[in-house]
Amino acid sequence: MSTQAIGKPLARVDGRAKVTGGARYAAEFNQPNQAYAVIVNATAGLGRITSIDAARVARLPGVLAVITHLNAPRLAYGPHKAGIDPASGERLHVLQDDQVRFYGQPVAIVVADTPDRAEHGAAASRVEYVAQRPVTDAQDPQAQSIVPQGGRAEADKSRGDADGALAAAQIALDVTYDIARENHMPMEPHATIAAWNGDRLTLWSKSQFVVNEQAEIAAIFGLPRENVQVICPFIGGAFGTSLRTWPHVTLAAIAARQVGRPVKLVLSRRQMFYTTGHRPRTLQRVALGATKEGKLTSIIHEGTGETSRHEQFVEALTAPTSFMYSCPNVRTAYRLTPLDTGTPTYMRGPGEASGLFATESALDELSYKLGIDPIELRRRNEPAIDEGDDRPFSSRSLMECYALGADRFGWAGRNPEPRSMRDGRLLIGMGCASASYPALFFPANARIRVLADGSVEVEAAASDMGPGTYTSMTQVAAETLGLPVEKVRFSLGRSDFPATPPHGGSQTMAAVGSAVRAACLAIQDELAKRAVADQRSQVFGADVDAVEWSGGRLRRKGDASPGQSYGEIVASGGGGRPVEVGASATRDPEKAKQYSMHAFGAVFAEVSVDPDIGVARVRRALGVYGAGRIVNPRLATSQCIGGMVGGIGMALQERTALDGRDGRVVNAHMADYLVPVNLDVPPLEVRFVEESDPHVNPLGVKGLGEISLVGMAPAIANAIFHGTGKRLRELPIRIEHLLDVHT
Ligand code: MOS
Repeated sequence: MSTQAIGKPLARVDGRAKVTGGARYAAEFNQPNQAYAVIVNATAGLGRITSIDAARVARLPGVLAVITHLNAPRLAYGPHKAGIDPASGERLHVLQDDQVRFYGQPVAIVVADTPDRAEHGAAASRVEYVAQRPVTDAQDPQAQSIVPQGGRAEADKSRGDADGALAAAQIALDVTYDIARENHMPMEPHATIAAWNGDRLTLWSKSQFVVNEQAEIAAIFGLPRENVQVICPFIGGAFGTSLRTWPHVTLAAIAARQVGRPVKLVLSRRQMFYTTGHRPRTLQRVALGATKEGKLTSIIHEGTGETSRHEQFVEALTAPTSFMYSCPNVRTAYRLTPLDTGTPTYMRGPGEASGLFATESALDELSYKLGIDPIELRRRNEPAIDEGDDRPFSSRSLMECYALGADRFGWAGRNPEPRSMRDGRLLIGMGCASASYPALFFPANARIRVLADGSVEVEAAASDMGPGTYTSMTQVAAETLGLPVEKVRFSLGRSDFPATPPHGGSQTMAAVGSAVRAACLAIQDELAKRAVADQRSQVFGADVDAVEWSGGRLRRKGDASPGQSYGEIVASGGGGRPVEVGASATRDPEKAKQYSMHAFGAVFAEVSVDPDIGVARVRRALGVYGAGRIVNPRLATSQCIGGMVGGIGMALQERTALDGRDGRVVNAHMADYLVPVNLDVPPLEVRFVEESDPHVNPLGVKGLGEISLVGMAPAIANAIFHGTGKRLRELPIRIEHLLDVHT
């Protein structure tokens, strides 16, 4: 008997706390005697600080300290790199020298007794610079691209002779794409409250990776790791911007130590455009060669992303190209252009979202050249295996996704002729695109405690930036233990809980979920051993192999007796003291070698374009995903809707614009950095194709967070082409791009 908690559309177990204000975010952990810090950001884009009027600011009412490179402590900055950090380069060391590397770099912090006084002190600070013009545009003649070092993306990969095959192709296409820099726009700003107790530091800090924030801050301050505790039970959206430990965390800790009080530091929306990462602008070339029958003969994909001068941020821009479609001749190349800006970082669907915009747009363009339906073109090039790595997929449901999607979206009712569909004055277009994201898995740990009342507590460091980690982990534990979900309490967001990988790369459900499952199985073993050894137990003296758990009770195999519950075993064997075990989950290394593991999806969009004013709107969209097991369809659907909304932003709105004179972000606020609001978001439908993948991990979960953004932007751009006959290869697609479709 199983509770069958997995697969049920359970409502969020933390929903009530979230809507009643009971859920506390980093900035809400106010401490007694707390002071406030505000960062002063560089207003030069490159150069050196020549003076700061710190003494004058320090005399302003309520100001407790003004900390600059002149009086900041020399920090240890011990070596530290996590998998999420750029493999090459060195993080920004804050307030350690007079150098300005990019506009917005922190150059001072003002600490005061109230937030207003700290704000005022920061605004009143006068900093002077010797400044040069920074290079902030990848197309600046002074910008030079380099071959990236390390990271997940292979810089160059090829099979066959892609250039030769392109030259010989019956039908060919060779085009370029330009996708704007984007910033993550979570509702919750970055925030850290730092409190020292002697040489022990507690950080209530917005983080997608609390165990790494602990390790990194320990390295920066030269402390033993256990002296730092990071606490973050809730995250108000992040999308990658809180994976790394950015400079403000260090600054909060410096400030708290300097004034001898707990210090709260919250970034303003404007500040979030400078030192907390961004999706790098990308420039790409895609060339396709095909036979007249639509068989791909050549794929060339060259992509360049921007990075900072001090770190090489790499993402999987060209990675999917080698396995998305069957083609004998493929060449991919990935480069970086170092600029005088902050370091980019992962942003939902990092690499894949940008790279697949280019390749899925190109494939759509090719389909019109060939006069073959875009879905049919993909079907004709569906690979039997991952041809890039020459190994089978653990599972791949792309064609099933297209079949279900085409049916539900009414693809058959689409007139294939561009500019043929209208709704009154409006031009109507329908487009589709493929999505993909790897099924990542890094080792994770979890701990479980069974109490005498029969309830269980499960803990893992983990995070929840919104997908519903509390709920889904509760379901995994309830399912594995055979208990009702009400008996399970799952906790996360503390660095002293068992270590987990970053809450990113769509791996929390897979990795932490597998660790939770492992812990549940381990506690069953432990309790069975105790029961067998306990004279008062119903199974006393049995062989542990001769007992079994079923429906939350232990009995001898084949025995019809009711058996013993978790609580009964704890109450009798251990005198009622809770029983606790920890466990780890790793991916089977053999399977990791044997299989190519990815989730796939098909995304459909219908747009309207007003030919008089050039406004494109998404009218409806559908995402169909083959992403392994779906633990909670309600939460999974909600997560995918969120990703698709992000894709609408990428396609039509989001663009961080820099002033080339100094690298200032000219739209560093939500009035001019556009994200979709309710009026921009049409009905979005999400469907999952059933996929049972025993290879990816014990739960069979592939993850959904990233893939749900991937594919949306090309589906929209392809729909705009279908509606207007105008092919747009620059994102975001804006009114000025569509003013000429009126003819
Ligand atoms: Mo996701 S970009 O790995 O938070």
